[in-house]
Amino acid sequence: MEFKFEKAAALKAKPADETQLGFGKVFTDYMFVMDYDTGEGWHDGRIVPYAPISLSPASMCLHYGQEVFEGMKAYRTKEGNIQLFRPEENFKRLNQSNERLVIPHLDETLALEGLKALLEVEKDWVPSAPGTSLYIRPFIIAVDPFLGVRPGDKYMFIIILSPSGAYYASGLNPVSIYVENKYVRAVRGGMGFAKTGGNYAASLIGQDEAHKQNYSQVLWLDGVEQKYIEEVGAMNIFFVIGDEVVTPELQGSILPGITRKSTIELCKSWGMKVSERRISIQEIADAYDRGELKEVFGTGTAAVISPVGHLKWNDKVMEINGNKIGAISQKLYDTMTGIQWGELDDPFNWVVKL
Ligand code: PLP
Ligand code: COI
Repeated sequence: MEFKFEKAAALKAKPADETQLGFGKVFTDYMFVMDYDTGEGWHDGRIVPYAPISLSPASMCLHYGQEVFEGMKAYRTKEGNIQLFRPEENFKRLNQSNERLVIPHLDETLALEGLKALLEVEKDWVPSAPGTSLYIRPFIIAVDPFLGVRPGDKYMFIIILSPSGAYYASGLNPVSIYVENKYVRAVRGGMGFAKTGGNYAASLIGQDEAHKQNYSQVLWLDGVEQKYIEEVGAMNIFFVIGDEVVTPELQGSILPGITRKSTIELCKSWGMKVSERRISIQEIADAYDRGELKEVFGTGTAAVISPVGHLKWNDKVMEINGNKIGAISQKLYDTMTGIQWGELDDPFNWVVKL
């Protein structure tokens, strides 16, 4: 597929020190844009200079939050090649989010072709310092200038790129997590499984409270009884209890993470016992008291595998594995990143080379 290309008047300087990138602050020279109009479908896929976009102040996405997004990465291998990790899963999930928010289906092959064409233009922006990658943010917004509440008739699909380092300033050092017991993020039947801005807006107040108490992230409990564990602000959560690896099952209120899915597949391939089931926070506290809570870690594209060193639930502070990364978390991190950066074999065919 050929996309129109509009050349930028000038190119930006690439970051001088890739070790100082941080997350999501620097953007590349170009972006991919495609429009949707009812009756016409998705049309005019194009690569244009990265720049502010012009929207009517009445655009529906600004008022009623009809928006979805994805998060993925392009990795540079030692040999200098560029590869993606399970990108078809991201575009499949984008359509699951679309369906929930009544946004028109986007052809997944076309979306991936648009991304590959953009990456072809921007390949020099994929950083090579250890632990860095090019973060990819595809998103869709409803742009009709209309203040009535209904699904839009006009949308924009945009992909922007951001060379990035670790999501958490602490890198692979364990993060401290606060269990939120007042607010909830999502309920079953709601849109917790969709990757849409509203879920993140709902989570900010909890994150703010966590920060005030010197915790970096929030662990959300279920929206009905506030007893069962759901997920963290930007990652899914796993527990190692005795010899069992446990993670909350997918019931519609948490994001079906691609790193979560890959973690389950890896652990099963190593012969470990893995369960996707309901886990109450009380069960975790009890396992901790018995000395059986061996490891806790989060999984996500931005967060990769993030060990959890402290978990605070009401007045109880649990220190996990002496606030050090555990053996399973380390093995998962090494294997996942080894496959992503092309340093290990890819027995599951997860990698898509550019
Ligand atoms: N849960 C939430 C709320 C997230 O924002 C993310 C990040 O994308 C995840 C889980 C992990 O999903 P994935 O592994 O697909 O990045
Ligand atoms: C990702 O891991 O890709 C995410 O989208 C998390 C994010 C909200 C920063």
